[in-house]
Amino acid sequence: MSQPTGSTRLAAVIGDPVRHSLSPLLHNTAFAALDLDWVYVALEVGAGHTAEALEAMRTLGIAGLSVTMPHKEAAAAACDELSPDAAALRAVNCVVNDGGRLIGHNTDGDGFIAAIDAELGFDPRGRRCVVLGAGGAARSIGLALARSGASQIAVINRTAERAQQAAELFGEVALVVSGGPEASVIAESDLIVNATSVGMSTSATDGEAAEFPFDLELIGNHHTVVDIVYRPLLTPLLAHAQARGARTANGVAMLTHQAAIAFTLWTGQAAPIEAMTAAVSASLVD
Ligand SMILES: NC(=O)c1ccc[n+]([C@@H]2O[C@H](COP(=O)([O-])OP(=O)(O)OC[C@H]3O[C@@H](n4cnc5c(N)ncnc54)[C@H](OP(=O)(O)O)[C@@H]3O)[C@@H](O)[C@H]2O)c1
Repeated sequence: MSQPTGSTRLAAVIGDPVRHSLSPLLHNTAFAALDLDWVYVALEVGAGHTAEALEAMRTLGIAGLSVTMPHKEAAAAACDELSPDAAALRAVNCVVNDGGRLIGHNTDGDGFIAAIDAELGFDPRGRRCVVLGAGGAARSIGLALARSGASQIAVINRTAERAQQAAELFGEVALVVSGGPEASVIAESDLIVNATSVGMSTSATDGEAAEFPFDLELIGNHHTVVDIVYRPLLTPLLAHAQARGARTANGVAMLTHQAAIAFTLWTGQAAPIEAMTAAVSASLVD
């Protein structure tokens, strides 16, 4: 990529913590692959400063912004306009600066659907899905699965009240499972998605046996199992699913595809998915 000039356009991610973010690698790889005069940086912005950061986007003419923890909900409140997904989820992970008008999007759900299509050829239409988790990622995935025609979305979460709130977003295909699911819900499902942080490598969970709210022996070779965690690339759930013959995907494809959608919203160009995937995969080798 050539050096930034006076006309280089700026995109950024705000978050805290943000120094570990793979977004600069993904987006700068994409800008370079298409020879676009853009640059992407990570900005550490603490909780409580979301609205100021979005105002700075206008003042500084930042063209595109990614939004991560802890700003997604506050960014939804600070945008001038929201996409249907961002409005339903009340959470924004991508902002487009349209001449000073800030338009908030949530690209996680569509990124997930694009990822399971590209990686596994999985079409949710008419399929029974199990979503583990009820946080921001689980809600965006469940909403996108419902819109894509899934026939059932069983929501399983540690905190039952949050499972209920998430299920309300998904409409009549939602099934809230509390207190451990019936074996048949797991056994008869087509897709199992881990959208919790269980299995993620952090100082808090490293070395701990990951605990799932159902017997992993229920996973069989008819299942597609997706873990949206990508550190490590092979999570305990995926290792188990592979051993039982299931088709699996980790979180790299969703990460790449949600970024690709943001890239297109900002630049108007199709994202170079292969270059982005190669860059992020190389950086995450276990
Ligand atoms: N690949 C991607 O592109 C992508 C995108 C977004 C997120 N992610 C990953 O997805 C995970 C969730 O992110 P998020 O933004 O949805 O976080 P979040 O809003 O904080 O939700 C966390 C979820 O994990 C559950 N959870 C946390 N610790 C648990 C434990 N010890 N046992 C059982 N359940 C537990 C929570 O349950 P409670 O409701 O009971 O607290 C909640 O459902 C993270 O690992 C994140 O890195 C990946």
